[in-house]
Parts: sequence; structure tokens; C-alpha cells
Amino acid sequence: MALLPILCYPDPKLHKVAKPVQEVDDRIRTLVADMLETMYDAKGIGLAATQVDVHERVIVIDISEERDQPLVLINPTIVWSSAEKHVNEEGCLSVPGIYDGVERFDAVRVQALDADGKTHTVEAREMLAVCIQHEMDHLMGKVFVEYLSPLKRNRIKTKMRKLQREERD
Ligand code: NI
Repeated sequence: MALLPILCYPDPKLHKVAKPVQEVDDRIRTLVADMLETMYDAKGIGLAATQVDVHERVIVIDISEERDQPLVLINPTIVWSSAEKHVNEEGCLSVPGIYDGVERFDAVRVQALDADGKTHTVEAREMLAVCIQHEMDHLMGKVFVEYLSPLKRNRIKTKMRKLQREERD
């Protein structure tokens, strides 16, 4: 297993649209294992392949306290969403230190493949539902700060660029 570098906003590679996985083979299973290791190391609750510069539809999530309930979603599709939406505070490993409110469906039903290539259906509410919607946006090339006002987004861009400059120096 290996830790993968996480792309930081406003890296344009975060806006690439991911392609469906053609076959869940050893290459994809290695990617999933590496993504899980990277997510746990970064203390995140979700990670999309886009964030590690792999543009295929793969997501890993673990919202458990004990960090022992990994959820793998390959080629996820939302097959149902609730009528109700709410604003929740979100953060992102690609936008470190930034948290802001985004409106999401309260509940979603998602169909996806697991790491064995089997189809499974996930009924998600609350934090898990929010997390799935956030990660699925990444696969479409969308970062949560794009829901915020242009003013806020520009402030975040400036802050991130400054942070990245400081890290390089
Ligand atoms: Ni994110």
C-alpha cells in the first residue's frame, strides 16, 4: 500500500470529469487500498479518486468513529434522493482548513460496485448522505467551494495559493 499525494484546490486537475471503471481488477483494488490508507492518514471521512489525480469513478468513505467501516463506491449512481434538503457544514481534504455550508439532499440511495465488483445499494442519511454527494461531485470535477459565492471562493483561492507558496518555500 502507498500514500498518495492529494491535489489541492485550485489545482485545475480537480475539475477533470472521471470516467467509469471498466473492470474491477487488481489495479482498481490497489487504488482502493491506497485511497483508504491516504484517507485514514489524512484523517478524512471521504476521498474521491479525482483528488489523487486518478480520473476514474472510485470513492472511499468511512464516517465511523473507530475508523473501521470502509465503504467503497465504484461507478456510483444516485437512484433516489429525498425531497428534503438541508445546509450542512462541509470540509475537504483538497481545501484544507476551509469549512462552509452547502445544501444537499437529506437522504440518497446509491447503487455502486464494491471492491469485488459486486453491485450494492447504500441507503444513506445525514452525514453519510452528505459525504456521498460531496465525493460524487468530485468525480464530476466539482469542489464544494464552487457552491459558495464568487467573493468567498476567490478569498479561498487566494488563501490556498498563499498556503501552497509557503509550503514550497
Ligand atoms: Ni472533498
